[in-house]
Amino acid sequence: MITAEDLRKSYRQNGVETHALQGVTFSVARGERVAITGPSGSGKSTLLALLGALDRPSAGVLRVGDMELSSLNPAQRARYRFEAVGFVFQEFHLLGHLTVLENVLSPFLGRRLERARHQDRAMELIQAVGLVEAAARPAGVLSGGEKQRVAIARALVNDPEIVLCDEPTGNLDTRSGSAVMDLIESLAEADKEKILIVVTHDPSVAARFPRRVQMLDGQVVSS
Ligand SMILES: Nc1ncnc2c1ncn2[C@@H]1O[C@H](COP(=O)(O)OP(=O)(O)OP(=O)(O)O)[C@@H](O)[C@H]1O
Ligand SMILES: [Mg+2]
Repeated sequence: MITAEDLRKSYRQNGVETHALQGVTFSVARGERVAITGPSGSGKSTLLALLGALDRPSAGVLRVGDMELSSLNPAQRARYRFEAVGFVFQEFHLLGHLTVLENVLSPFLGRRLERARHQDRAMELIQAVGLVEAAARPAGVLSGGEKQRVAIARALVNDPEIVLCDEPTGNLDTRSGSAVMDLIESLAEADKEKILIVVTHDPSVAARFPRRVQMLDGQVVSS
């Protein structure tokens, strides 16, 4: 369960202040599937970054379960990100010289025991995203749609309770985009407890979600 209360985020760059989030209040229940839409600059990515503890709010309250994210220290935040959150980004963010399997296991970098324990799960996910044949190939040689499927497997390898996707189909053609959305949906379907939040510009992607949250000028205007 996620609760945001009057969440605010301002950036200061070269003396100019941008109010990216201007009092966002909303909540997401366990197992909910939510699309976030809104024009460019409306604060969608900023909100996702706060939800995933990649960044901290300037003001307001953000709770996940019984944790208040802004009260966590850096180590606790890193732990929250590692244990509770899976990210899928528009630009894939894979390590091109590493294999598909290594990419899926990359959240365990520096955690050798956990990495070893998750080998089987990683292979299961690689199978689920249809890339068994490519498991040993460097991620850099894959097509965009394939790369995003690797990113989805990586996001799920730690079985996070929250999956955050920022324009996951933004760099894909219509066909691979819809295959990627099918996959995200079917994997979410397999675990009804997971929260799935997908930021999208694409009305046909948003239409697939039971709940759509619309943002405008740093605020949620309909949820
Ligand atoms: N790191 C940053 N430093 C300064 N300003 C930022 C930073 N990140 C975002 N902003 C500003 O905050 C506002 C909201 O940005 P955000 O990226 O959240 O929008 P968005 O809805 O994701 O847009 P898009 O659809 O183009 O991805 C914008 O005005 C943006 O320029
Ligand atoms: Mg964005």
